[in-house]
Amino acid sequence: VDLQPFNTMTIAARARYFCAATTLEELREALAFAREQQLPILPLGGGSNIVLTGDFPGLALHVGLKGLSFEPLTGGMRIRAAAGENWHQLVMRSVEMGQGGLENLALIPGNIGAAPIQNIGAYGVELRDSFEQLTAMEIASGDLVTFSAQECEFGYRDSLFKNAGKDRYLICEVVLNLPATWQPHIAYPALQQYFTEHAQAIDALTPADVAAAVIDIRNSKLPNPVEIPNAGSFFKNPVVDASLYSQLKQQHPQLVAFAAGDHWKLAAGWLIDQAGWRGFQNNGVGVHDRQALVLVNPGHRCGSQVVALAQDIARDIEQKFGVTLEPEPRFYP
Ligand code: EPU
Repeated sequence: VDLQPFNTMTIAARARYFCAATTLEELREALAFAREQQLPILPLGGGSNIVLTGDFPGLALHVGLKGLSFEPLTGGMRIRAAAGENWHQLVMRSVEMGQGGLENLALIPGNIGAAPIQNIGAYGVELRDSFEQLTAMEIASGDLVTFSAQECEFGYRDSLFKNAGKDRYLICEVVLNLPATWQPHIAYPALQQYFTEHAQAIDALTPADVAAAVIDIRNSKLPNPVEIPNAGSFFKNPVVDASLYSQLKQQHPQLVAFAAGDHWKLAAGWLIDQAGWRGFQNNGVGVHDRQALVLVNPGHRCGSQVVALAQDIARDIEQKFGVTLEPEPRFYP
């Protein structure tokens, strides 16, 4: 099966086997088949955070579990969402109910099942801030296992499922818990600037106002994957120690960085932009012209060409700034 329709980078690659599962029973059967045939698994959701570097020698498994419920609590709202539900639609449903907590995460592409893997985050808020627990199917056994927030070991674009739990679980359901009392999280510079420019009074803001601002900001910088193939930020923002930070800040007073404990998180987009890559195009792959952290694939090229560009950029940033960039999406195989 051709996986091009299943990844937002629109990379053409073939999977040896493909299965679209819409129930837990179908998922369990697919895993049993893969176990018998000793096949590796490529879980597919919205396909917005993967780079297919070649044909996949195993089973590509589309997780299409559906179901969404909103349970009012005295202290807020509990949301249960199946892995195959769309993330942005869930955010908008909660915002339409006047419930705050997820509005900063509006318009993030992809499905619920992928959200905990990289602890999706934007504009100062991360999934872990409203996460209660998740249920996953263990690939080796087909058993369902529940993980609390603590057990998920969330970090910046990181979780158990990228480390000790990598390739061991398929996420089936996520439970979120949103608070009754709401404070807008608008400290992120782009949001501050937005509300100043639009003369919106901070103390009158609703969750819907913040969601609308986030959607506007994202639309102004980030390419819509339906129009320009991409996988969001291609690199994580690198975290560096205080001595490298102050050295870089001296050399580049405009450097954009956020304090992260006793370390500093640098804006990789700024580094790539400074190095002259923004808007770069070569043979159908390139760097988005309004956000240098996003690689684009308008020519629908193969994964190796995307990876080659990413390597050229990372090498250049290493040389110019002494900073190592790590890819953000998952590469398969
Ligand atoms: N910048 C430039 N030039 C560029 C790009 C960025 O100078 O070409 C500067 C911006 O002006 C800004 C700073 O770099 O001062 C940061 O840029 P931005 O606010 O766009 O955010 P980011 O750090 O590049 C991260 C996340 C995004 C998330 C935004 C908003 C990562 C890897 N990326 O990007 O997440 O939407 O913050 O919170 O952490 C994703 O993960 O796929 C993603 C899009």
